[in-house]
Amino acid sequence: MVAGAGYVGTCLGVALAERGAEVVAVDSDPDTVEDLRAGRCRLPEPGLAPMVRRLAATGRLTASTSFDPVQVADVVLVAVGTPIDPKGVLVADQLVAACQQIAPRLRPRHLVILKSTVAPGTTRTLVAPLLERGGLVHERDFGLAVCPERLAEGVALTQVRTLPVVVGGCGPHSASAAERFWRDALGVDVRRVPTAEAAEVVKLATNWWIDVNVAIANELARYCAVLDVDVLDVIDAANTLPKGTSRVNLLVPGVGVGGSCLTKDPWMAWRDGRDRGVRLRTVETARAVNDDMPGHVASVIVDELLGLGRGPTDSPIAVLGAAFKSDTGDVRNTPVRDVVVALRENGFPVRVFDPLADPAALLDRFGIPPAASLDEAVRGAGCLAFLAGHREFQRLDFAALAELVDVPCLVFDGLLHLPPARVRELHQLGFAYRGIGR
Ligand SMILES: NC(=O)c1ccc[n+]([C@@H]2O[C@H](COP(=O)([O-])OP(=O)(O)OC[C@H]3O[C@@H](n4cnc5c(N)ncnc54)[C@H](O)[C@@H]3O)[C@@H](O)[C@H]2O)c1
Repeated sequence: MVAGAGYVGTCLGVALAERGAEVVAVDSDPDTVEDLRAGRCRLPEPGLAPMVRRLAATGRLTASTSFDPVQVADVVLVAVGTPIDPKGVLVADQLVAACQQIAPRLRPRHLVILKSTVAPGTTRTLVAPLLERGGLVHERDFGLAVCPERLAEGVALTQVRTLPVVVGGCGPHSASAAERFWRDALGVDVRRVPTAEAAEVVKLATNWWIDVNVAIANELARYCAVLDVDVLDVIDAANTLPKGTSRVNLLVPGVGVGGSCLTKDPWMAWRDGRDRGVRLRTVETARAVNDDMPGHVASVIVDELLGLGRGPTDSPIAVLGAAFKSDTGDVRNTPVRDVVVALRENGFPVRVFDPLADPAALLDRFGIPPAASLDEAVRGAGCLAFLAGHREFQRLDFAALAELVDVPCLVFDGLLHLPPARVRELHQLGFAYRGIGR
């Protein structure tokens, strides 16, 4: 059983059902449950909707608002949301509510696995006592382990079936049971860590590292821009250096960091560290650097357009790709929104187009009716701003687009990372080109 049929819960549920398990997805939201029962999935993850349709039809994936399926399940995976408040403190309402529902239905030999991201110590000091209210004791009567979900949106279905699962038990029996479960049910490798707390920290450390690494790439890009050096050449060459047990692995610059994890998990670690007397300064710095990127990107676009003789109220800017990262349609918490707000504040009219995003979500997030097609977005535009690098943008026929745009037209490369030959092609077609750090 999976408690919380959101992004993580649904991806996990279909992966397990596809491997032969009978999965019940339990969610407090009746609309989500109704959708799943009807074989519908609105989550913007490539490949997910057809799998939900297929597995719901076979009966291997069912859904319920009631937690009664706990009683017949061997394993209960908890994947409810774990947001933070403005001070970085974990908001555990969803987690507490789910545990309160699970507790009275727990049976001996059950295994409860926390997939949600939590501050270190949460499983042992909050989840375990809540579950024990049903009268059973963890580790003695039922298993309790932390296996933080590490999938990335856009490639979630592949990752959930292949990534090694980190396992930290609230005791050795719990850890062994969780280890067996992942090997048998998903056929994936397991990386066991000594405690539940270690597993909780692994998740926070990972997203903290990603955020810091992206911040370095973003600052490096700003530095390379003033040096007139292509940041991608620098990163490519720097990453050939062996270091430690791996190698230098600079990530790439972008228009900012969004999504539901990287913007919250580092702050969760920061706040927990602060409460325990440790100041995590790299979290503060990386968050500030990455939060500054949308404003920086907007000012680069504005400066380039002014340099081309284009002013506010001139031809529109077509923002192509509005999701928080490439190859997903998820526009929740997308930094592209802040770029669009800043461009409009500078007086530039903006159109938004994202082929992967739900038009209603785009309208809700950006407050502008989205363009219905690429052609509609780019016709008469004085700038094509690629702010997500979706695969289908990589294959675009720029010669055809050149016929539609208003000349001079700037191609702003936020996340396409076009290779030099494509940039030369753009120049030959009469486009101006500018990337982040390029
Ligand atoms: N989205 C990601 O890419 C990702 C990746 C790794 C880890 N995580 C972590 O996984 C967890 C879930 O994230 P998500 O993106 O799937 O969240 P989500 O908001 O998409 O899904 C949470 C689901 O839980 C349901 N829910 C809330 N309270 C409930 C309750 N008491 N009982 C049953 N259902 C309840 C909600 O209705 C919702 O459908 C979070 O801790 C998140 O940090 C997310």
